[in-house]
This record gives sequence, structure tokens and C-alpha cells, in this order.
Amino acid sequence: MIQVAVFGYGTVGSGVVEVIDRNNSIVSDNSGDKVNVKYILDLRDFPGDPNESKIVHDVDVILNDDEVSIICETMGGVGAAYKFTKAALEKGKSVCSSNKELVAKHGAELIQVAKAHGCAYLFEASVGGGIPVLRTITTALTAERITRIAGILNGTTNFILTKMEQDGADFADTLKIAQDLGYAEKDPTADIEGHDTARKISILSDIMSGHFIDSDAVQTEGITKITSSDITLAAKAGYSIKLLGLASRYEDDSVSTMVAPFLVAKSHPIAGVNDVFNAVFVTGNMLGETMYYGKGAGKLATASAVVADVIDAARKGSSCMYKGWDETLAPAASLADAEYRFFVRCASDDADAVKALFAGVQESVTEGSETGFITSKMTQSGFDASAAKAAAMILGSVRVYE
Ligand code: HSE
Repeated sequence: MIQVAVFGYGTVGSGVVEVIDRNNSIVSDNSGDKVNVKYILDLRDFPGDPNESKIVHDVDVILNDDEVSIICETMGGVGAAYKFTKAALEKGKSVCSSNKELVAKHGAELIQVAKAHGCAYLFEASVGGGIPVLRTITTALTAERITRIAGILNGTTNFILTKMEQDGADFADTLKIAQDLGYAEKDPTADIEGHDTARKISILSDIMSGHFIDSDAVQTEGITKITSSDITLAAKAGYSIKLLGLASRYEDDSVSTMVAPFLVAKSHPIAGVNDVFNAVFVTGNMLGETMYYGKGAGKLATASAVVADVIDAARKGSSCMYKGWDETLAPAASLADAEYRFFVRCASDDADAVKALFAGVQESVTEGSETGFITSKMTQSGFDASAAKAAAMILGSVRVYE
């Protein structure tokens, strides 16, 4: 019998119990032995819940039970989750986590603790929910030098941007719909300001580069400044606006990591990723571009990835571990030198004056009293310098992804 404990009986934790229960014969067959949830750790009681008898409030009950070999950490946060994860790994219990905040902050250390104690720290569900992207990069793409990862990594913001484009609605109204549907939290800051995406692209960058990328230091721009005019004009020019996490690795091994809204040509597969879906675009030096698509959030999709890690840990123990990354910061490439084309929005009356600041203006579209145009390729610092000269006239600007 493979005895499992679940830390945190919230949305994902209860999903983990459900997946293990409903798919028990598959999960057990693939694990090589019957898988059973022995304990669920939570501060709350769940009277009437079918798993009420499994609830414990004291983590030591689990840590001191030698029968429990695998923990699913679905608590979130970096306080108790860090302490309990480390303690479990030190006891030789593998931990399978959906906690992106913890992985982004302490992943390097926790992988080493697992290695030192002959168990595994796995976190497929922390990035892209149910999309199997970490395992793919670290196994199927292991012969590649990964040079770029671009992803729609947040379902809430992708839902908002999709709805704004489809309905012509503004940001505030669409955020309210996302909250009513239960996608956006009451305090939606982490999603709409891009912090959630920053954690996920940092984890992908860690894996890509082998060094630590501090998610708090990632240049992060959310979607709160994107207006329905930006979206309408961009659409007229043949683009959708998507919040992307973007990580690039250069010849000298320096890495740039950022989160920002980008114009994506409607002909690009990323532009077709709508609603709460996520997608990750991974470029390898031999393979070229690959794309992974699916549900980036949600109870059962995320839980499925946690349980896949459980099966891996049960079958392979510490040998299924990610290679990991060290705790030294990856050399940072200058974002000021990065080159993009930029979409610029201004009043149509100001368009000639604003366009005159940018050589080689390309697509230009007008809708109502506003005009949007796309500059030729220029450095970020070059764009900033030109845009500063017309700060009062530029109503919005967004980089173009290519
Ligand atoms: N708030 C996140 C999202 C949940 O909207 O994608 C999954 O990490």
C-alpha cells in the first residue's frame, strides 16, 4: 500500500483526493501498488465530508507516521508550506506540490533537500496547471538547449483579455465578470498585475537556465492599463493582446525574463489560446518550436498533475527528480537592449506628430477618434527615449511578440 497525505483541503487538495479516489485503479496500477489517502492536513474541520475521518490538524501525526511515503502539498504560501515541505523531505517523504510561490522562492533548496534524503520534490502542477510542461522540458526535451519559453500562464487574465476582445467590454466590467464566475479572486492583484505569471515564468526560467531567477525581480507589467481601445485597434491591425511570460536565453548564457502584455499576430498559435486556457511555447536549438496547451487552472486539471507526480514518485523514488537549479542568480541580459516592434495608441489628431518620432512606422489603423500604429523594430531604450518626447500624446503602448 502506498500511503499518501494531502496538506491543504482546499480546491486543489480536494481535487487530489477526488482524482486518487475516482481513478484509483489507474493510479494504483501505474504506481505499482494500491494508493490510499491516509491523512488530510487542514486547520478546519469538515463535518459531513466523506473524508472527515482523515482530517488531522497536527502535521507531526503525518511526519511521524512511517507508513506515509508521499505528501501532496496544496496549501499554498511560503510560510507553513515551506516548513512542512522541508520537514517531510528530511523524513524521506516525497512531496508533490502545486504551490508555485514556494517553488519559485525555495525550489532550488527543496530539490537539494530531497536529493540528500533519497526522495523527490516534484511540482508539475505549479506551472500551467494540468499542462505537462515541466516534465516534458526535463525529459522529452532533455537533448535540447532551450533558448526561449513564452507562455500564457494565467487563466484569469487570459479570460479577461479574450472577453474584452470578443465583447468590446472594458477592463473593470470584465474583471467583475471573471470574479462572478469564480476565476478571479476577490483580491485579483496577483493575477491582473502579473505576479502569478512572474512566478510561473521564473520556474520555467530556473529549469531552462539551471540558475535561480528571482520572481520578485522579474520585470512585471500586468493588464490593468490595457483598454478596450488598445484591443479594438490591435484587432483591426490583425493582432490579439495576450499577457505573456517570456524567458530568453542567449549564447553567453545570460537570461532575460519578463511578464507583459504583448500584441500577438492572429496567425500565431498563441493568439488562438482563449478564455481560461494556458499555453506554453518552448523553443529548443535543435527541435525548433513546440507548443503545449490545456487547462492552466481548475480543481481536477491541477490535481491530475499532482497525482501524476505521486505516481512518478511511487514508481521511481528520487530517480524521477528534476535536475534542479542552483541558488546563484542567472546572469541577467539587459532588457533595455532587447528589440521589439511597439504598438502605439494616440488621438488621431496627434497621430502625425507622434508617428514622426518613430522611423519606419508600419501598420496604422484608426477607429473613432483614436489611431494605433506599429513602429519598426527598435530597442526598448530607444523606444522609451522617443516615447518620452510625446508622453502627453501617447495614450498607450504595447510590445509586439514575434
Ligand atoms: N489564478 C491562477 C490563474 C490559478 O488564473 O491561472 C492557477 O495558478
